[in-house]
Amino acid sequence: MKQNIILIRNFLSKTNYYLKRLFLLPLHFGGTDYYPPVTHNTEKKTFLRRNFDFLNNKNRMKFWSYLARKHSTLKFFYSKSPEIEFEKVYSRSDTEYFDELRTFYKYGTATIDNFFNKNEHNKIIKYFQKHVHPQFSNLNLSASWLSNSKELNNLIHRNISTIDKVIFNKNIGIQKYRLSSWKKNKNYLSDKRDSVLFHQDRFLPSIKLIYFPLKVEIDPYEYCYGSHIINSQFYENSIKTMKGVLNVDNDYNYSNYEKKKFYVKENSLIITATHGLHRRSQTTENKSGIRDYITISYYNDFTRYDLLLNYLKSYLFR
Ligand SMILES: [Fe+2]
Repeated sequence: MKQNIILIRNFLSKTNYYLKRLFLLPLHFGGTDYYPPVTHNTEKKTFLRRNFDFLNNKNRMKFWSYLARKHSTLKFFYSKSPEIEFEKVYSRSDTEYFDELRTFYKYGTATIDNFFNKNEHNKIIKYFQKHVHPQFSNLNLSASWLSNSKELNNLIHRNISTIDKVIFNKNIGIQKYRLSSWKKNKNYLSDKRDSVLFHQDRFLPSIKLIYFPLKVEIDPYEYCYGSHIINSQFYENSIKTMKGVLNVDNDYNYSNYEKKKFYVKENSLIITATHGLHRRSQTTENKSGIRDYITISYYNDFTRYDLLLNYLKSYLFR
C-alpha cells in the first residue's frame, strides 16, 4: 500500500514537472533555463537548422549579441574598458559597492569582504550545518539544499538587491537560493567535467554571485582576468565552446588573460562574469576540507525576453 502511494506520488510529481516544462517552453526553448544557451554540436544538423539558416549557431550568436549590445549595462562588456563605461553611468552615490563593481568591470571578477553582518553570517553558517553537511557520507562528497526558508531567502535578497540593480538595471526578485558544499578527501581529483575545466557559461554577458561563508582552503574558484571583454578573441573561444567544453579546455586562446585563484576569506562575496573563462580549480596538495558556497545565478530572472523587451523599448523611444 505504502509503495503504491509512493509510486502514485512520484508519477504525479513527474507529470506536473513535464506539464510545467511544456507550458513554459517559449521561455526555455529546450534549454535548462531562460537565457539563450551556447548550443553544442555545431555539426549536428537538425531539421530546423537545415531549413532555417537563422537558427544556426553563428546566426543565433549574432542575433542575441546584437540585442545585448543595446542593453544599458550589459553593453559595458563589449567595450575595451568596461570599467570606464561603468563610471560613465554610475557614481559612488548609486552604490556602496562602487569600488568593487569597478574592479569587477575591469577584470571580470571582484571580491567583497565582510559581506553580511556578524549576526547574518552566523545564521548562514547554521543553515549549512543543519541542512547541507548532514547529507555527506563516504560516497557522497557533494551536497546541496535549495532553501525554502523565507528568513534565509529574504536575508540574502536584502543584501544583494542593490548589486542586482546595478548589474542588470532591473529589480531582480527574491529567489530560492541554493546552498552547496563540496567535501574534498586527500589527493582526490574530480572526473573531467565542465565545472573543473575552464569554460564560458554563455556567449552573452552572464553574471553570477558566489558567497563563501568560510575561508576557502581547497578547490578555489579560478578566473581568467580579461576574458570578460567581448571581442574577437572572446568569439574565437565561444565558437570553440560550441563544440563542447570537454574538448576545448586546452584549445582556448588564453593570450592576454591572467589566471587568478580566489582563496577568499570567510564571509566573502565574489561577483563574476561567467561568460569569461572560469572553473573550480582543484588543489593538488595533500589536503582535505570542505568548501561551502552559495551560487546566485540569474538565468531564470534576467531572460531572453528582457533582451527583446529592452530592444523594443530602445527602438520605440529613441
Ligand atoms: Fe560555469
